Amino acid sequence: MNTLHRRILNVSGITALVMLAVLSACQPAQETEAFTLPVSINEVMASLINHSADPIWIAAWRNPRSERDWRELEHLARQLQIGGALLTIPGTGPADKQWTGRAEWQQFSMQLSSAAGRAVNAARSKDIELISRAGDEIVAVCEACHTDFKPDLPTMNIYGELSPTADNI
Ligand code: HEC
Repeated sequence: MNTLHRRILNVSGITALVMLAVLSACQPAQETEAFTLPVSINEVMASLINHSADPIWIAAWRNPRSERDWRELEHLARQLQIGGALLTIPGTGPADKQWTGRAEWQQFSMQLSSAAGRAVNAARSKDIELISRAGDEIVAVCEACHTDFKPDLPTMNIYGELSPTADNI
């Protein structure tokens, strides 16, 4: 038994109960804080998830040609794989802890990460068919999570924003 426990047991009943209540109330907050991202999930979404997913869809339209193109695609797919895993950790956004606390959220995040992992393999083997398949899986997860957690977001907009138009490819 450590000193702290011995001291708690030594003080009078009420004080001990209060101290235990305070201790147990503090514990989870401290643990969560140690695993908090420095930015909001919305920021992770805009700067990392969205940014790295975009070229994977573009690649399915415009076959990467050079060794450098494929390497770039592999790095972006890897960023999306990492980004998906990061979504399991709350950041500074007001609803972040609420979202990451849900089992469905955790599942969607890891599904995104796995699908992006398959895009990494596809880029490594320079297989455009597999890139395209991984891209379809990725978009399905984006949509499913948005429908579940951000129902007021017009999810079709992500296509408008992400899909290249004839002008920019
Ligand atoms: C685990 C759930 C989840 C997954 C998976 C997910 N999103 Fe999101 N996304 C959200 C939530 C929730 C928001 C709203 C965040 C907020 O408002 O704070 C959001 C916001 C966004 C935004 C900003 C839109 C806005 O109006 O602020 C973009 C862009 C976006 N997501 C793109 C994507 C793309 C692209 C993918 C897939 C590659 C994806 N998201 C996967 C949950 C998810």
